[in-house]
Amino acid sequence: MKFFIDTADIAEIRDLAETGLVDGITTNPSLVAKSGRDFFEVLKEICEVVPGPVSAEVTATDFENMLSEGHALAKLADNIAVKVPLTVDGLKTCKALSDDGIKVNVTLCFSAAQAILAAKAGAAFISPFVGRLDDTGADGLQLIAEIVEIYNAYPEFQTEVLVASVRHVGHVIESAKMGADVATIPPAVLRAMYKHPLTDKGLDAFLADWAKTGQSILGKDERRSA
Ligand code: G3P
Repeated sequence: MKFFIDTADIAEIRDLAETGLVDGITTNPSLVAKSGRDFFEVLKEICEVVPGPVSAEVTATDFENMLSEGHALAKLADNIAVKVPLTVDGLKTCKALSDDGIKVNVTLCFSAAQAILAAKAGAAFISPFVGRLDDTGADGLQLIAEIVEIYNAYPEFQTEVLVASVRHVGHVIESAKMGADVATIPPAVLRAMYKHPLTDKGLDAFLADWAKTGQSILGKDERRSA
């Protein structure tokens, strides 16, 4: 499973990119607004920090302007994936951009029917919003299962299932069980994935017992201060 980070906060991106576990970034107009940064500047900086796909969303809603915006965003960096909403104009834009060899992430997906159309339009990624479906009382993860099942039935579909609107670790785990290709994860959720009290407790116990031996793996002059 590929892990993208769902943020436009460059400090968070730099910090998490150092783990070597970050395969890409997703942004959207709300996340860019939250960053308080110039759109083009922050996207360029993110693309320099993370070599994997970086999603940048168009803000036009009509085909002609979406297409122009998509081409403008694709010129920012080789690893830009243009994000378009799952509307008929977004699908037309996805088809035109993907025919031009530009990666497209079709976002705001809430049904399997929408996901089929995105795959037919040549999307590189489909972004079903599991958290927002959960918010309505629906089962967002059920949509992931449906899309994975449908896509697996059609080898010609090259679209990767990019689980979005992830709200907790359970969304990542259950999506992984279903074989989703990517999860785009808020920084706090990624950090919650590696934290476990028993790990902390066990490590403390190991180190306490090791300290009693009076031994050290590195000599004093070899050890760097933490
Ligand atoms: O990538 C989509 C994501 O940012 C939406 O998340 O929590 O606003 O539904 P959320």
